[in-house]
Amino acid sequence: MCGIVGAVSQRNIVPVLIEGLKRLEYRGYDSCGVAVHQDGMLRRVRSTSRVAELTGLAAEDGVASGTGIAHTRWATHGAPAVHNAHPHFSQGPGASSASVGRIALVHNGIIENHDELRAELKQRGYVFSSQTDTEVIAHLVDHLYNGDLLEAVQQALPRLKGAYAVAVFCRDEPHRVIAAREGSPLVLGVGGAEYGENFVASDAMALAGVTDQICYLEEGDVVDLQLGRYWISRRNAETGRFEAQQREVKTVHAHSGAAELGPYRHYMQKEIFEQPVAIANTLDAVNGISPELFGDGAYRIFKEIDSVLILACGTSYYSGSTAKYWLESIAKIPTSVEIASEYRYRDSVPNPRTLVVTISQSGETADTLAALKHARAQGMTKTLTICNVATSAMVRECELAYITRAGAEIGVASTKAFTTQLVGLFLLTLALAQTRGQLAEADEAEHLKALRHLPVAVQAVLALEPQVIAWSEEFARKENALFLGRGLHYPIALEGALKLKEISYIHAEAYPAGELKHGPLALVTAEMPVVTVAPNDALLEKLKSNMQEVRARGGQLYVFADGDTQIESEPGLHVIRMPEHYGALSPILHVIPLQLLAYHTACARGTDVDKPRNLAKSVTVE
Ligand code: F6R
Repeated sequence: MCGIVGAVSQRNIVPVLIEGLKRLEYRGYDSCGVAVHQDGMLRRVRSTSRVAELTGLAAEDGVASGTGIAHTRWATHGAPAVHNAHPHFSQGPGASSASVGRIALVHNGIIENHDELRAELKQRGYVFSSQTDTEVIAHLVDHLYNGDLLEAVQQALPRLKGAYAVAVFCRDEPHRVIAAREGSPLVLGVGGAEYGENFVASDAMALAGVTDQICYLEEGDVVDLQLGRYWISRRNAETGRFEAQQREVKTVHAHSGAAELGPYRHYMQKEIFEQPVAIANTLDAVNGISPELFGDGAYRIFKEIDSVLILACGTSYYSGSTAKYWLESIAKIPTSVEIASEYRYRDSVPNPRTLVVTISQSGETADTLAALKHARAQGMTKTLTICNVATSAMVRECELAYITRAGAEIGVASTKAFTTQLVGLFLLTLALAQTRGQLAEADEAEHLKALRHLPVAVQAVLALEPQVIAWSEEFARKENALFLGRGLHYPIALEGALKLKEISYIHAEAYPAGELKHGPLALVTAEMPVVTVAPNDALLEKLKSNMQEVRARGGQLYVFADGDTQIESEPGLHVIRMPEHYGALSPILHVIPLQLLAYHTACARGTDVDKPRNLAKSVTVE
């Protein structure tokens, strides 16, 4: 989703800004732009193409300067078009006015009261050339500008309702960028003395290569970047005055998102095949089960809780939904799983003895962060996150954490993040079971053995790719698909359907197989492929009856069956044989062929697999 980079330097900073945007590309965007302070004027280049195009545009137009801001936009207000791309410039009253083209601004987030502000600013004579909510901020700062950009921004911020990270500079102050955050992430990067440079960016990864000295700005922070110095302030809610703030600057070794594709066609394919290593890395530090895997003080917290509340979105919500089965059956702890965007606005009954578990690949998902805050505000202060980014807001906000080591996930469709989240959640299940006296030593040893063998087991499932490719040719011609699963594998069916719709644009729905006859069976015809997740577990015989219901209506079944199920191919029943049943960890194996099916179907349909339409990797707005 939207990405921001800004800098003040004594060298031409445009290549650094564009490189920063490239490192943020993985978040997803539909347009981009750079603006600089040059020869006493604001200059900019914008594009609805790739970030790489900005280099050529900047060179053609001779755009070069030490002070600038850059942005990747994921459209919320106004179509993806050059006139809506950031940076936006203020256009004050009257073409001859001194304020025309005075302020340049980029923004991540949503300004909820933009209509009201637009009406007010139009009355004052401001001219709008985009449909964005962002342009109102540029005009508002311009309107409040009286020779000091910091003061103007500080006066503008209390008038904004919603979430934002902004970076802004002014034609009249050549070596200064002001940035602020409220609800959207922003970091300050302190550069070396050689060029006296300082940076802001949406995350530390954008600055990899220019500085590893990172300060994570807090909610409400405003930072004043100048050559060789910076100053952070925050508004005191009681006095309304902005006061200086001290923030820690840390050395952060952020990895570049621009990982090499190697022999793979897409990042998604690479990431599917990286799963054995990602799982092994996630398990690397695990020598036994103990609460301390989740941080100091975990034992005390685990002892005090009587339930678990999982908050997440999308694929992460499905890993949480799978974990509910583990937590209730193995650790015997009541667990609820909520979609973060629903939970944050719902009247619920808070229980201070609940462990609130957020799950997030990026650690920056706005809805999940807001749901966490909502839970805390209701007195549920025992918080834990399963997260893939150690430096993210989610990890900073939660008391306990388990960092999955999936490595950078670039493909928008989440794959290795999901399976490593499941590993983290299984460890949490075992640690809670142990704390609650529900884990016999022999069982612990068995579970650990199965976890350690998991990378090899996943490798064996990946070897089924050629068979999945053969199926994908048929799926590519369909417009609808049903996915069935039962119990622990129902969330896996949901995840399989989500993967297929996200990247192949085929309409796919998942049901618990027992629900078929309560409605969706009406959809079943010879044209409807019905993907079935068929592990050899206690529900297999029930599932076989559900499969018969489909066959009796002429439906085409595509079954991923454990090797020990005795389900054989026959007309209308297509079977890919998985390895033998893998017990409680079986969902981790069964999701792999569903990822491959979605991937190869999307390839056969020729879609943009790594950047599916309308989607962003890091969803930092509500
Ligand atoms: C689906 C997908 C999304 C994310 C969701 C949450 O493939 O990637 O559904 O799972 O946006 O993102 P995180 O896990 O970063 O909080």
